[in-house]
Amino acid sequence: MSVLFSPIELRGLSLPNRIMVAPMCQYSAVDGEANDWHFTHINTLALSGAAMFCIEATHVEAIGRITPGCLGLWNDATEAALRPILASVRKHSRTAVAMQLAHAGRKGSSHRPWDGGQLIPLSQGGWQTVGPSAVAHKEGETAPLELDAAGLARIRDAFVAAAKRADRLGIDAIEMHSAHGYLLHQFLSPISNKRTDQYGGSLPNRMRYPLEVFDAVRAAFPDKKPVGIKVSATDWVDGGWDVAQTIEYAKELKQRGVDWIDASSGGVSPLQKIPLGPGYQVPLAQAVKEATSVTTMAVGLITEAKQAEDIIASGKADMVALARGMLYDPRWGWHAAAELGGQVEAPPQYWRSQPSTQKALFGATTFGAR
Ligand SMILES: Cc1cc2nc3c(=O)[nH]c(=O)nc-3n(C[C@H](O)[C@H](O)[C@H](O)COP(=O)(O)O)c2cc1C
Repeated sequence: MSVLFSPIELRGLSLPNRIMVAPMCQYSAVDGEANDWHFTHINTLALSGAAMFCIEATHVEAIGRITPGCLGLWNDATEAALRPILASVRKHSRTAVAMQLAHAGRKGSSHRPWDGGQLIPLSQGGWQTVGPSAVAHKEGETAPLELDAAGLARIRDAFVAAAKRADRLGIDAIEMHSAHGYLLHQFLSPISNKRTDQYGGSLPNRMRYPLEVFDAVRAAFPDKKPVGIKVSATDWVDGGWDVAQTIEYAKELKQRGVDWIDASSGGVSPLQKIPLGPGYQVPLAQAVKEATSVTTMAVGLITEAKQAEDIIASGKADMVALARGMLYDPRWGWHAAAELGGQVEAPPQYWRSQPSTQKALFGATTFGAR
């Protein structure tokens, strides 16, 4: 029996396996609105065999976008654009659909990665970013505006409004984006947070704003639906955010009812030194799980079925999330199930693809003709 293909409960959500398609920005929205690219991308990956698909970082206000092409959910138009995409997913797939809610803070106003990914200056159509402190991400860049009380309340309320819109769209779960050097992570890390008020300095102070936003989203999203969070468990910079602080954050989140912690890393400083390698972030998920018993997801260079199975079987994490591996092989879940003796759901239109040696791969299927 494969443990990767064993069920798991996230609050009121029952998943038939432990695989999530990790959120992946597509940089292809217009004014934050999803379009035909998102329709194709999301519907394709809703058939991957993963029990849950997480919609890319979905920004809660326009200046919170990483790039002008980033997805948003801040008005009726951005909500309406997602509706037909979700209707199609629901028609053809039973995968759970999560949405990652995000604010880029000082990493907003960037060019798309394939256009170089650098800051777009105001003079070239960029926008003034905001952050915990007026400290630029990279030397020489325009600094963000330090958020005042009104700005903090506005963004917290924007997360809440987006969570309500997500619920109205039928989204099954929310993943808060508190990783990769974006706004909530910027508050956590002493590298980007130089505040001297109650939101800066000590660890409880640096965690205060992300926890306030988490509480507000949790309260606004239906009780039976899970809310998880993605963290950068370390900045990979001396004197930055690290695993010990992540564990304290995880303990606070656990008290507040977090349903999973997705353990990523990095993104707050160009000085980071990341020890890349297969499953390089698994020990981060493991550390959080061992210290807190919160449900954890491991993410990062997990590409092989056996590797994913071992991560779950050894108890290092409860789920795995795959990003690039899913783009490369959008039926990754099917192929993993075939290799590990698991079962996935496939739409009847594709049942005939079931390999002759894998008669149970798609469960009880029948196919007739005359
Ligand atoms: C195209 C692309 C877009 C991404 N966008 C997001 C995002 O929106 N939110 C996020 O938390 N991580 C994002 N990531 C990071 C992935 O979710 C994941 O954490 C990372 O790629 C490591 O997993 P992998 O080795 O399976 O790709 C993105 C990665 C890729 C390749």
